[in-house]
Amino acid sequence: MSTNSEIMTNIAVKYTQMSVHKEIKKVTTHVLIEMKQRGEKISMLTAYDYSLATIVDDAGIDVILVGDSASNVMAGHETTLPITLDQMIYHASSVVRGVNRALVVVDLPFGSYQGNSKVALDSAIRIMKESGAHAIKMEGGAEILESVKRILTAGVPVMGHLGLTPQSIYKFGTYTVRATEDAEAEKLIADSKLLEEAGCFAIVLEKIPADLARRVAENLTIPVIGIGAGNGVDGQVLVLHDMLGITKQFNPRFLRRYLNLYDSIHGAVRQYIGDVKSVDFPNEKEQY
Ligand code: KIV
Repeated sequence: MSTNSEIMTNIAVKYTQMSVHKEIKKVTTHVLIEMKQRGEKISMLTAYDYSLATIVDDAGIDVILVGDSASNVMAGHETTLPITLDQMIYHASSVVRGVNRALVVVDLPFGSYQGNSKVALDSAIRIMKESGAHAIKMEGGAEILESVKRILTAGVPVMGHLGLTPQSIYKFGTYTVRATEDAEAEKLIADSKLLEEAGCFAIVLEKIPADLARRVAENLTIPVIGIGAGNGVDGQVLVLHDMLGITKQFNPRFLRRYLNLYDSIHGAVRQYIGDVKSVDFPNEKEQY
């Protein structure tokens, strides 16, 4: 049981952290590195459209990821593979128009960077030019290093992504926890170092053991943002539609649901249908 003074101290610490965080006018890649240095955790969520990006940014999120998870939650595909570069640019430009403070990072979609660093550079430049976003994210380590380096030469900030990388789902065969075996864990550690040395400003670690993620975060000077990677990392990311409870079927252990919007929206729509059918809507005050 916490004493009253412990509770007051916790509230004071939280308030101080919130104040620091509100004082930042615009989150840049440098701000994120400073946050790691002073031990302030980084908050990151996905967004894919103007309206929700506005709310998420206004609430004070540090980083908004225009994730290729848009392929699942916005377009209803089973995997992230089908989404195109043009579609990512459409989502990213909508998000950018709603954001004042957060750093906006955009996923390079499957097929827009693997295997050819010139194609990778062209894709990254299209995203930056046509959406107004601030950085891009890419999945993989040593295999994509040449593309990472080439994009960085153009002055485009790159966020890495290791562990469960959904664009490789057909190689993995399942969405289960990655890097539980020594060989894969050692490769992940080596890849994280390669990405830091190449000049990435941060790395996402998805669905790996918490101890391994903590080791990676302690080993690097750049921030490590986790999703299903425990609390020993420098920040956390979730898919917005999952944490708001819009996507009902997706229930991994790492997901904390803050709302049950599926049921709220379902209920509101049911009520609207009833009101229309019973001619309760519109009433006298709702017409001209
Ligand atoms: O696309 C996405 O939403 C992501 C997060 C899960 C990190 O890459």
